[in-house]
Amino acid sequence: MRAGGWARPVHRWTSIVFTLAVIANFVARGMGQGEPPAWITYSPLPPLFLQLFTGLYLFALHYRRAAPGARAGAGP
Ligand code: HEM
Repeated sequence: MRAGGWARPVHRWTSIVFTLAVIANFVARGMGQGEPPAWITYSPLPPLFLQLFTGLYLFALHYRRAAPGARAGAGP
């Protein structure tokens, strides 16, 4: 069963933003004009932090013990 509520789509879409930010770093460095601006260098970090917290939440959900009285599959 797949749960996660808001966390799963946030995790999924920030993974795209993170991947694009990493690609931007490769492209900027590949242009051979030295070190790219700091905002490009560090642009993967904000989406990566969102991934970390939503990912840990999804991980916790997977192993969460069903609350007393909870119906199967009725999680968030
Ligand atoms: C930073 C630490 C991260 C943690 C702790 C984490 C953890 C998780 C967990 C627990 C799941 C759910 C797996 C399941 O279905 O049981 C998940 C799904 C996923 N993760 Fe991560 N993740 C992290 C980073 C990333 C990164 C860097 C990427 C890609 C750039 C990524 C891409 C995905 C995708 C695409 C899914 C599937 C989402 C869906 O079901 O639609 N994650 N992750």
